[in-house]
Amino acid sequence: MSTTENPAAPPKLRPVDIAHHTHLTGVFAPQREEVDVHNLAVEGELPHDLSGEYLRNGPNPRFDPIGTYVYPIDGDGMVHRIAIRDGAVSYTNRFVRTPMVVAEEAAGRAIWGGVMDPYAPPAEEVGPELAGRLRDLPDINVVRHGGRLLAMAEAAQPYRLDPKDLSTLGPDTCGGAMPVGSTAHPKIDPETGEMVLFNYLFEPPYLTWAVIAADGSVVRTPTVVDGLDKPLMIHDMALTRRYIVLFLCPLVFDFVAVFRGGSVLDWRPQDGLRVALIPRDGGPVRWCDTDAFWVWHFANAFDTPDGRVTVDYAEWSFPSGFTGQEEPARGRMARAVINPETGAFDRTVVSDRDVEFPRIDDRRLAGEHRHAAAVGDSGGRDGVFDSLLFFDMAQGRETSWNAGALSVGEPIYMPGSENDYWGMIGTDRNDMTSWFVILPVDDPASGPLCRVRMPIRVPAGLHGAWLPD
Ligand SMILES: [Fe+2]
Repeated sequence: MSTTENPAAPPKLRPVDIAHHTHLTGVFAPQREEVDVHNLAVEGELPHDLSGEYLRNGPNPRFDPIGTYVYPIDGDGMVHRIAIRDGAVSYTNRFVRTPMVVAEEAAGRAIWGGVMDPYAPPAEEVGPELAGRLRDLPDINVVRHGGRLLAMAEAAQPYRLDPKDLSTLGPDTCGGAMPVGSTAHPKIDPETGEMVLFNYLFEPPYLTWAVIAADGSVVRTPTVVDGLDKPLMIHDMALTRRYIVLFLCPLVFDFVAVFRGGSVLDWRPQDGLRVALIPRDGGPVRWCDTDAFWVWHFANAFDTPDGRVTVDYAEWSFPSGFTGQEEPARGRMARAVINPETGAFDRTVVSDRDVEFPRIDDRRLAGEHRHAAAVGDSGGRDGVFDSLLFFDMAQGRETSWNAGALSVGEPIYMPGSENDYWGMIGTDRNDMTSWFVILPVDDPASGPLCRVRMPIRVPAGLHGAWLPD
């Protein structure tokens, strides 16, 4: 029986209770429309010196999920593009059409389950090509490098997109740098143009790193990082001119527990946290140990003249959603200074507020940065960020902008030809309208210079980039 003749979901996977799921309702509700709209309405003054495209990816299940749905690691990808040129703004959005999305579109319903309830459908359901495969999830980030536009997944191959219309071209190994996969957060060195990445594996050797040249060719094929004895979830990395910086937090993939009906991810704070400083010249990895905490995202890292490494990141007391703990994790913006010779790890708190999605001017990446921004929570919003925090690291100053009814996403640094700006998407929780908001870097607390009305609601999502013309 073909899938089109069998509209019933597999009996093993029940529909997710969407109406009561925080991350499938409100500002997170999936968007199923795909549109191209030009000359969007602008409130305020659009900066005349900006020319380029803001792109953002995020989980957006094509069909109502079955089994389980865990934000932010489940969902299909949807890439949103806001193009600003010649005083006009246009918007385009497209699903990242993996073979799984295509098969589900043919069936008219979800077939695959969630990451925490993995289901690999048989050939009778999806045909021999997709039989036994889990869903690809290129829904985390979107990166342009070496002539490629890539929708990034975690620990899996990215999907290449057509930069003209955002249609999906297919999975891409980037010339062999990602034969198995990549982090969703590779880093591009603005001085060399190289893209540096790591990939974690569920089997030994558990961790590799690789480098792609500015022209898209492979500089270093996946190179093993020795010293891991179990598979760890590692979401992001930082890069200096000398090192790849990885925080190996003790969030362990435990596949034995899955067979016993437990969670695939196990938080083991007693194991502590190991930092790996991987020399980009291929030298021996430097290790240092500290007490456990959890990090999704880094802002940046850089080498100091005395040989130490400074790392700015959003720190959480534990990974919410994976530990079974009811109380919320405590968050803060932190700066660590690491001594590769002694293994000393010295941490200071930059801000004791819950912060996420820290970003800097990507042209400063791997070197010392001045400005950083992150989303914050003014209190009691249950994971919905409603403010932006701005850090002037040179002056040691923190400012903020309260976005009011807008739930805001990751701030992206957008350099103009005269001035620089922060840009992000926000959705009004009262009327569910979405907006692209532009703030001035030199005085972001003064609020938006303008906001552009999105033609459809843009679900709260994850990461993106400003691609200047
Ligand atoms: Fe991320």
